[in-house]
Amino acid sequence: MPPYLPEHDPEFLADPYPHYELIRSEGPAVWDGGRAVWLVTPQRVTAKLLATKQCGKDPRYGEASHTDSESPLLRLKSLWILLRDGTYHRRLRDIMTSSLSRKGVLALRKAVQDRTRELTADLAPGAPFDAARELAPGLPFDVVVRLLGLKDHPQGPLREWSRALFATLEPGMDRPTWERGEEAAEKLSALLTALLTSKNGTAASEALLLHDVREAYCAGYITLEEGVSSLSLMFIAGHETTAQMIGNVINALAVNQADLAETDGALSANPAAVNEFWRYDGAVQNTMRLARKELDVGGRRIAEGDRILFLLGAANRDPTFHQDPGRLDLARNTTTHLGFGGGPHYCLGAALAQLEITEVVHRLARIGTRVEIAGKCDWNPSITFRGPLSLPVVVSG
Ligand code: HEM
Repeated sequence: MPPYLPEHDPEFLADPYPHYELIRSEGPAVWDGGRAVWLVTPQRVTAKLLATKQCGKDPRYGEASHTDSESPLLRLKSLWILLRDGTYHRRLRDIMTSSLSRKGVLALRKAVQDRTRELTADLAPGAPFDAARELAPGLPFDVVVRLLGLKDHPQGPLREWSRALFATLEPGMDRPTWERGEEAAEKLSALLTALLTSKNGTAASEALLLHDVREAYCAGYITLEEGVSSLSLMFIAGHETTAQMIGNVINALAVNQADLAETDGALSANPAAVNEFWRYDGAVQNTMRLARKELDVGGRRIAEGDRILFLLGAANRDPTFHQDPGRLDLARNTTTHLGFGGGPHYCLGAALAQLEITEVVHRLARIGTRVEIAGKCDWNPSITFRGPLSLPVVVSG
């Protein structure tokens, strides 16, 4: 019998959010019996459990590999490091670490600065614009397309495939979402296969990620499918989250009436201060694990095999850990936030995302003094990915 996957469950497909439901609680862990998942919110417990081997990814996606599945989407996802643990995860992760390390990202700095300047060139003090639609998506998309050597490929289909695949990361999806994901997985896999097997090679200075993955494939260190899958994960993770985060940051600046010159100055004085934006309002709000052994969380017994949803956004606002958590304060020097997750799956693109956010704030500070909300905002309904769909703002002069 094939292993159970939520996507194969007709009930799951009928209800967009069948397994999860947010519950408010003062306790360290809440069991939602009807939904069969623990919800964990405290910062300390979340950081500790994400870092240990006591919790791991759901093996129904990874270890029970679906490389021979008829579904292009399952084949692609089954090899994503995001969904797998152990030696497989480490082997593939190591290949992509150096191009996204702090040092690797320095090579992208000029390109990020130039592109941010272009994207903000038409913004003027007092002139309203929609930050979510007009500003946020451009920069992260261009950067990731460059990293993957996809710069010369038509952008329309790339954006469409990315959106379709990103939607399949939501816990629970309807049938049209699944079908769009299947089609996008098939087309993107074909394109990435062609890139990896191309005889033309890649210019390392431009397409850093493609170059590193290609070298590993040509050296026989990884299979073609592993390479294609890894590039596809980078393609999606590398920009959809950052695009949402740019919206969250601009919203945070507006809601907290931040002085843009001061904020920019704080980031120049201490680049790590940018982490406060992830603590305050990160683009990834939760991550799922399985208990690999029986756990005692604040006196509650979590059985081996139980599912645990770590509410990263709640942990980042845990008042027993962060003082006055609802206030954006770049001086608090937050390095302990969970906006990039924690433990072995800590975000590979953190340094790149931080660079992009820093540059956006820098450009806004050149336009005016404050950001103000200029109309009705609309937010992504996802329980996992937080960001505005529409964010009308104005930068005051
Ligand atoms: C605002 C931007 C971003 C946010 C909020 C974010 C958040 C996260 C979080 C919370 C995780 C951990 C997921 C888990 O534990 O299940 C993660 C993992 C990951 N992120 Fe990011 N990310 C961002 C940007 C990026 C960028 C720019 C890239 C690549 C260029 C990237 C690539 C990845 C990859 C490959 C993983 C999986 C790592 C692993 O499983 O070992 N992310 N990210």
